Amino acid sequence: MRRKPAQTRSLLIKQLANGEFNSGELLGELVGVSRSAVANHIKYLTNIGLDVFSVKGRGYRLAAPLLLLDQNKILDLIGQESNNIVEVVSVIDSTNTYVKERLDDLPQGFVCLAEAQTHGRGRRGKTWVSPFGSSIYMSMAWTFSGGYQSIAGLSLLVGIAINRSLAQVGVVDCKLKWPNDVYYNLKKLAGILVEVEGQVGSHASAVIGIGINIDLPICVDEIDQPFVDLVSITQKPVNRNELAGLIIVTLTKMLKQFEVEGLAPFLPEWKDADLFYNEYVYLESGSNRIQGLSKGINESGALLLDNGGKVTAHHGGEISVRRA
Ligand code: BTN
Repeated sequence: MRRKPAQTRSLLIKQLANGEFNSGELLGELVGVSRSAVANHIKYLTNIGLDVFSVKGRGYRLAAPLLLLDQNKILDLIGQESNNIVEVVSVIDSTNTYVKERLDDLPQGFVCLAEAQTHGRGRRGKTWVSPFGSSIYMSMAWTFSGGYQSIAGLSLLVGIAINRSLAQVGVVDCKLKWPNDVYYNLKKLAGILVEVEGQVGSHASAVIGIGINIDLPICVDEIDQPFVDLVSITQKPVNRNELAGLIIVTLTKMLKQFEVEGLAPFLPEWKDADLFYNEYVYLESGSNRIQGLSKGINESGALLLDNGGKVTAHHGGEISVRRA
């Protein structure tokens, strides 16, 4: 049978996932290609971050066994509580791009998850480094009937949803950095990229992209800020299917409440987790830099800065703490 390269590579990964040695010959027989074709596929997989090594005479092995993302396991977990459609893919350019391009045709709450992204996107045009099997890369489609204005604060809501889900797997000390980063011990654990399509007054559709560092390879040197992964925090393997399922259920429930009540009911939770509450911060937006005492957020998710008793609300930019 003639398969597409991506299908062949998925089969190879499944065969290698248990961490045992497999000879090139055996792998070739299993997937119906030559040994040299196997070598080429393995090279591709190594390039996208899969930690495979080869030993002469023994074949190929993963550095550690890998629990792959599994659509059925995720559906089992969320089945009781919501009816999201979930698609798991192996390698994709970006789950956000995938969902964005199909937004008009996707059902409410559709989720795409990938093992690796070749063009993972972060906020402000940055790259989101996305090695194979090392993180959660997921995007959800959600359409709001209230139009663009009804989405104010959405990305902050997503941060709270991630925090709640992490707490359910025992990670309780995460913080939220305005507008939408999840931090642990002053290092970034997760990022959120919300992309909105639609116009004022009509409906607005959003792609909610979430990246959570789970077990990054030691040699990720392309990340340009302090970061941490979940395995370093918990010191034990993390079940990505379980965490993804929890996030889908939690976020779906919160989105339904947010559509009716807005961000207001979630403000106390944000305040509890606010990384910089009552700290002097800089807010940078383009070439503009202002400073003030961070006073949390308002009901539309704007950052409140107190400058000599005058509190102003800010919708865009990046904050950093101002050291005396
Ligand atoms: C950031 O902090 O800069 C946001 C990072 C968002 C990354 C996620 S991974 C899944 C989804 N697909 C993407 O290309 N980006 C988001």
